[in-house]
Amino acid sequence: MRTAQPPLGNSPRSAVGQWSLFILMTGWILSSCTPAPSRSSSESRPGFTSPSTGHQSFQASTFYTKEMNPSPTGYGGGVPYDKLERYPQLNVLYAGSGFAKEYKEDRSHTFAWEDLVHSKRVTEKTPGSCISCKTSGIEKVWNEEGWGYAARKMPEYVAMGLGSIGCTNCHEPNTFQLRVAQPGFKDAMANRGIDLTKASKQDMKTYVCAQCHSEYYFEPGTDRVIHPWEKGLDAASMYAYYETKPKGFDRDYTHTKSRTPLLKAQHPDFEEYSAGIHAAARISCADCHMPKQVQGGKRVTSHAIGSPLNTVETSCLWCHKGKTKEWMITRVRYTQDSVAELSNACMDALVKAHEAIMEGESRGIPTSVLEKARSQLRHAQWLWDYTASANSMGFHDGTGSMRNLARALELALKVPNLVGH
Ligand code: HEC
Ligand code: HEC
Ligand code: HEC
Ligand code: HEC
Repeated sequence: MRTAQPPLGNSPRSAVGQWSLFILMTGWILSSCTPAPSRSSSESRPGFTSPSTGHQSFQASTFYTKEMNPSPTGYGGGVPYDKLERYPQLNVLYAGSGFAKEYKEDRSHTFAWEDLVHSKRVTEKTPGSCISCKTSGIEKVWNEEGWGYAARKMPEYVAMGLGSIGCTNCHEPNTFQLRVAQPGFKDAMANRGIDLTKASKQDMKTYVCAQCHSEYYFEPGTDRVIHPWEKGLDAASMYAYYETKPKGFDRDYTHTKSRTPLLKAQHPDFEEYSAGIHAAARISCADCHMPKQVQGGKRVTSHAIGSPLNTVETSCLWCHKGKTKEWMITRVRYTQDSVAELSNACMDALVKAHEAIMEGESRGIPTSVLEKARSQLRHAQWLWDYTASANSMGFHDGTGSMRNLARALELALKVPNLVGH
């Protein structure tokens, strides 16, 4: 019964209950699998190792895909469209940060290294810590240098030609067990009291993604990767943490015009997902983004990790029984359109807030008033950016996204009043 799908009802209780049953079944199906060894070329495939289990050529050929498919809702997808062009307000909001130089929609893991190397955001001063989530070379570098790699500079690693993300970012090279390789994530999870070596397979199917798809900053002085999760994973808790100015970290950039000390959210997909309905039902990132397929009579996992809306049948309908592809896409679009509309209103209000502060400063209003306005703008922009910088346009947690954006809008709209605009 390798191809058995979980029976799922439509009511929340039955779906969750039966899902737990499915987790048990999946564990059994995969652990009882003893595939034959097979050969596959590793040439020009960064981080390729031959697993001790079979069908690696299927996983490899799907993982190293160079396909760039648009998303049916037009938000995600693998086409690297220019976000600064699509959302012109970003040119104002990110002024002073590298994101004002270049900000493109993400594409598949095969491109991570070349997109980093060619990014206009990377300069001779960019710290080595940037390699943490872009290359399978991270393991070797870490074993040789420990945290020393973080404070070295990117051009040294570019010269080494490390290559993009590969199998070992998520798999133990010999046993092919799921594991994480990003040192900052290991530290952050240990600080939260989570022992990754004891994590369940279902949790690992989220953690392997979370090691890179999450918020972080570089510690001043050492450039270590730190995840700001000491007070919690949600936007408000992370803000409260940042407000303690940990190890002197007080900003990602200073706005060139309003001189506001700002935080730049970095793709908090894991955090956003964690508050959503699917995480509550213990559904992992891989359950949607790496759908199962039957190949040669065996159930295997697609490694072409992209928008699940291009694979609704295998990504969603095995749980959402009785629904159609169109129905699912319409529901996702409804959430995404709602979030995009509110995000757009936030961007307009934030732009006006920056302008009001600039104008207030030119009028010579007291520094204490300006500081208060800047601090409120910083808070508002963080709450907006948390959702805007995550990659699902709110799908992973529609309700939470709307709440953060509503708070951001409220704070931003009041900034002009604060400076008597
Ligand atoms: C492993 C099972 C599973 C998979 C896979 C899955 N879902 Fe769900 N989904 C659930 C459960 C459980 C709920 C909670 C409500 C319920 O029990 O019906 C839910 C709720 C939803 C909701 C309503 C809640 C909301 O936030 O609006 C939407 C929309 C949804 N899923 C879309 C999707 C889409 C799109 C995919 C594929 C990309 C997907 N789901 C994949 C199990 C799943
Ligand atoms: C219930 C299914 C589901 C789960 C679970 C889920 N996602 Fe998603 N994810 C989606 C959907 C649907 C989109 C929207 C895709 C689009 O706009 O085309 C998306 C979008 C994304 C994107 C942007 C995709 C693109 O095409 O640019 C990233 C990155 C992402 N998710 C990462 C994650 C990570 C990391 C996790 C776990 C922490 C996760 N997702 C959990 C369904 C899911
Ligand atoms: C981004 C993380 C990630 C990367 C990178 C990755 N895998 Fe996987 N791999 C997974 C996940 C998640 C599973 C599914 C585990 C499950 O459902 O039991 C998996 C499952 C597998 C399996 C078990 C059989 C199957 O299809 O479920 C094999 C074999 C495998 N991967 C090989 C590879 C190879 C070869 C590479 C490199 C070309 C690779 N993986 C890269 C995350 C990854
Ligand atoms: C080693 C770090 C790393 C790991 C592990 C990782 N990602 Fe990514 N992911 C990235 C980077 C970097 C990009 C952007 C690549 C680019 O645009 O050049 C990306 C892009 C994506 C995209 C956009 C692809 C597209 O075609 O639109 C999705 C979806 C995604 N990741 C989901 C996941 C999921 C799900 C997992 C876990 C199974 C995962 N990622 C694991 C770093 C990682």
